[in-house]
Amino acid sequence: MPVEIIKRSDRRFPVRWLREKLERALEILGLKDREVTVLLVDDEEITHYNELYLGRPYPTNVISFSQLEGPFPGVQHSLLGDIIISLETAFREAQEYGLPKRHYLLALAVHGLVHLLGHDHERGPWGAWLMVRREIQLLQELLGPQGKKTINFVKRREYMPAKLAVNVDHVATVREARKVDYPDPVHAAVLAELGGAHGIVVHLREDRRHIQDRDVRILREIVKTKLILEMAATEEMISFAKEVRPDQVTLVPERRQEITTEGGLKVKGRVAKVRKAVEELKEVGLKVSIFIDPDPEQIKAAAKTGADIVELHTGHYAEAAGPEEMDLELARLEEAARVARELGFEVHAGHGLHYGNISPVAAIPEIEEFSIGHAIVARAIMVGMKDAVREMLCLISQAR
Ligand code: PXP
Repeated sequence: MPVEIIKRSDRRFPVRWLREKLERALEILGLKDREVTVLLVDDEEITHYNELYLGRPYPTNVISFSQLEGPFPGVQHSLLGDIIISLETAFREAQEYGLPKRHYLLALAVHGLVHLLGHDHERGPWGAWLMVRREIQLLQELLGPQGKKTINFVKRREYMPAKLAVNVDHVATVREARKVDYPDPVHAAVLAELGGAHGIVVHLREDRRHIQDRDVRILREIVKTKLILEMAATEEMISFAKEVRPDQVTLVPERRQEITTEGGLKVKGRVAKVRKAVEELKEVGLKVSIFIDPDPEQIKAAAKTGADIVELHTGHYAEAAGPEEMDLELARLEEAARVARELGFEVHAGHGLHYGNISPVAAIPEIEEFSIGHAIVARAIMVGMKDAVREMLCLISQAR
């Protein structure tokens, strides 16, 4: 039997239907003579495999192990590999997304199957895109028009371009260079919104070197999308945020001597302190993000603070010395985005991104929003703010 299904969960599911669909999938792929094992389990068991093989001590929806990987690659030629699915997580997610349980479970199984074919090993910006395209083709064949809702969900989730929040700090940098009242970051924010920005970001620094309190207060009044305030988790800033009430606060580390934010917030070992700041901000209804290095240990610590969002620090990627280092940093971002999403975070990214390096990171499907400042303001000097924003949005939407 090409597809063997072992059910170790008490939850009800039509095993025969799944087997027939997956056998048909193998046929469509021209792999009728190959075998796949599918293990249907609950959260406890999938957590065990997730921790043992991938170092992630929490449940997930699907994991697959290709026969091409591991200590004896390709020993058993007919076996493609194993797909493990948690019915508990799959059913919970199906309900959350409003999708038929069977169709959603098949979508997870097909995702696992395409992974077994090695699609996500095609590294580079297009790997994820190729994988989703293949999944959608298979689901269209297997479910037909009845599966439209689930297929659209898979398309939307993976193809939907990330959003862009524009940081206007450096408009204020030019103003403060002469201590005059122009150019005004408030005007820049209006133009950025007209260019299509999904949010406006300002960093109110302790030394007030660019953005001033007045800027944030006026922006609070006029920003039509959402206002994001970057700040250090100090008492002064927390009470300012509670008073002005931006839509989102992003907690960043801050050192007076730095030219710009140099690293992510260190959360590991300081969970209680960060959690206190997050709680205070959330108490008044603010959404809270933590700017963090793409390090799974920091992300796991962030999960204990109650923050809604993590913004992955892309600075190391942006400053990579050559293509090899850049590839390595991109892989770190991909892994961090996956871990963060699995922990339930909304995933954002930013720092040092520009028109020449945005595409590979914009292809990472888990990243929902980018925060970009310097490159856009620099280009706006040449082509105007609206066009500078439009050009960046265009690159972001072409990446997926
Ligand atoms: N995200 C955070 C947390 C930042 O501190 C900054 C810089 O202010 C940015 C994004 C934007 O970085 P850049 O100006 O290099 O685009």
